[in-house]
Amino acid sequence: MADSNSLSARIQEAADAISGHAPDWRPEIGLILGSGLGELADEIENPVRIPYSQIPHMPISTVHGHAGQLVLGTLEGKPVMACQGRVHFYEGYDMEQITFPVRLMRALGAHTLLCTNAVGGMNDELMPGDLVVIRDHINYMGVNPLRGENDDNLGPRFPPMDDAYDFHLRELAHDCAKKLGFRLRDVVYLALSGPSYETKAEIKFFRTIGADTVGMSTAPEVIIARHGGMRVVAISCVTNALHGSYHEADHESVVRQAKESGPRFKSLLRAIIEKMPAPTAAAR
Ligand code: HPA
Repeated sequence: MADSNSLSARIQEAADAISGHAPDWRPEIGLILGSGLGELADEIENPVRIPYSQIPHMPISTVHGHAGQLVLGTLEGKPVMACQGRVHFYEGYDMEQITFPVRLMRALGAHTLLCTNAVGGMNDELMPGDLVVIRDHINYMGVNPLRGENDDNLGPRFPPMDDAYDFHLRELAHDCAKKLGFRLRDVVYLALSGPSYETKAEIKFFRTIGADTVGMSTAPEVIIARHGGMRVVAISCVTNALHGSYHEADHESVVRQAKESGPRFKSLLRAIIEKMPAPTAAAR
């Protein structure tokens, strides 16, 4: 029996609250929909919408462009649980809070995390509106979400991260994009705590150490998903370029560009979900 203050106990309380809204619901895929990318949740069939405020221990976003609700239902015939909006480290929440939704998805049964975000493109080949698939990340947030006591029931003390982004799901993402008539690039994503955008010197440094894109989320959620044994696939929308003569980043244009890319983004995510194979027994 977990102590009533433990992370496991909080996850269980939140899971029980969700089961109260949607008895016996078991999602296969957890979706995190980032800035301006939340519209896919409106396409979920037979939706049960639960505002974050009705779920114990669920952190609530303070940022414009991040509606806060869970949407449970089916997409392309698969049971999904979508976070329409996420909370960020820069809002002042701690790592355990910002990754709580992933813990919750896992507890409810999701075996795969499909994560999305808005990013700045540092690689010269990336332009606003491009969609990319994350092949690896550099966690430059200065903190790891697994710091602190480890609960062995949730995952191992020292989880490997060398293959955090599932190879087969990345291949699937490329195939789906090709069928839809566009090219997805594979990128290394660098996560910062924010909320300030990057200086020119930082961008130069990040490019030098091998990063293609930069953003203020995702790495913590992916670390927690992998800790819990979930498969991960992550798609980013490049909302602004950070190279050449383009060095502007501001929140309004980030959200606007993400929304403009919405239709292509939604088609890609739907295609990935439709074709997503079940994981091997080990990952269930
Ligand atoms: N920097 C950091 N985070 C971001 C950016 C950026 O340029 N664009 C979208 N999210």
